[in-house]
Amino acid sequence: MLVYLNGKFLPREQAMISVNDRGFLFGDSLYEVIRGYRGLLFEAQAHLQRLQNGLHALRLRVAEFDRLAEIAQHLLATNDLLQEDTTIYFQITRGAPFPRKHAFPAEDTPPTVYVTANKLAFNPAYLEHGVAVITVPDVRWNRCDLKTTNLLANVLANQQAHEAEAYEALFVREGFVTEGSHSNFFAVANGTLHTHPISPAILPGITRQVVLKLCHELQLHVEETPLAATQLPEASEAFLSLTSAEVLPVIKVDDKKISEGKPGEITQRLQRAFGEYVKALRKY
Ligand code: PDD
Repeated sequence: MLVYLNGKFLPREQAMISVNDRGFLFGDSLYEVIRGYRGLLFEAQAHLQRLQNGLHALRLRVAEFDRLAEIAQHLLATNDLLQEDTTIYFQITRGAPFPRKHAFPAEDTPPTVYVTANKLAFNPAYLEHGVAVITVPDVRWNRCDLKTTNLLANVLANQQAHEAEAYEALFVREGFVTEGSHSNFFAVANGTLHTHPISPAILPGITRQVVLKLCHELQLHVEETPLAATQLPEASEAFLSLTSAEVLPVIKVDDKKISEGKPGEITQRLQRAFGEYVKALRKY
């Protein structure tokens, strides 16, 4: 299995980063995840634009930025993944200067650039049967719109979900649901589909954006307004949107079943529309 690290394609076991790496020491680092449907990089431009926006916000410059899609394609081809469903992971850090100090290193410090492609690891049964979620307080910082690798709050929340035999943890900030630990959240309350608006409180999910486009095409009204956590028990259906699972039905929130413990109708319509959208891109 070959990965890309700092200009070279090399076996995963030989890909090493320095103990001085600022991603390791400070979490001074961004990442991105693109889904590969066989050879197709799904919404690659939108994912790379989000990464570009993040690099701009972190004031990080990456010489090979324009080659990232090509590097991903090369990894799919050399690792014999062109016929597989995959995820392509990109991570960029502010390099590995010495000594350790908080302020930015010298301008000529090269960033660390890592790209790897792997088979998709997701249980498709969840798409059919739905998943349980729990709610947890949103203790994250105020720039959740940046896809940084500072994921401790997300890790702890997801572990709590895992221990409660749930798939995902929904963050609740000042009484409103923001998003999941690694997904965006949609719910139907009082007959209207809601999702949190784009703001520093959520990651602007690429799947979320595709879902909004599909809603528009299906003439499904969506309100980009936050849902109060107190409205969750009355939601008639709910789902998560995320790169690895597209539209993932939610059938239980904490101890309360949603839509009688089955994927809801709107959710299933969007799942089908998503499938068609991908099919059309792949020009079957
Ligand atoms: N997670 N919100 C958060 C906090 C996320 O980490 C993610 C994605 C999303 C959904 O974004 P998208 O639709 O662009 O995948 C929302 C990725 C997949 C991960 O951490 O592996």
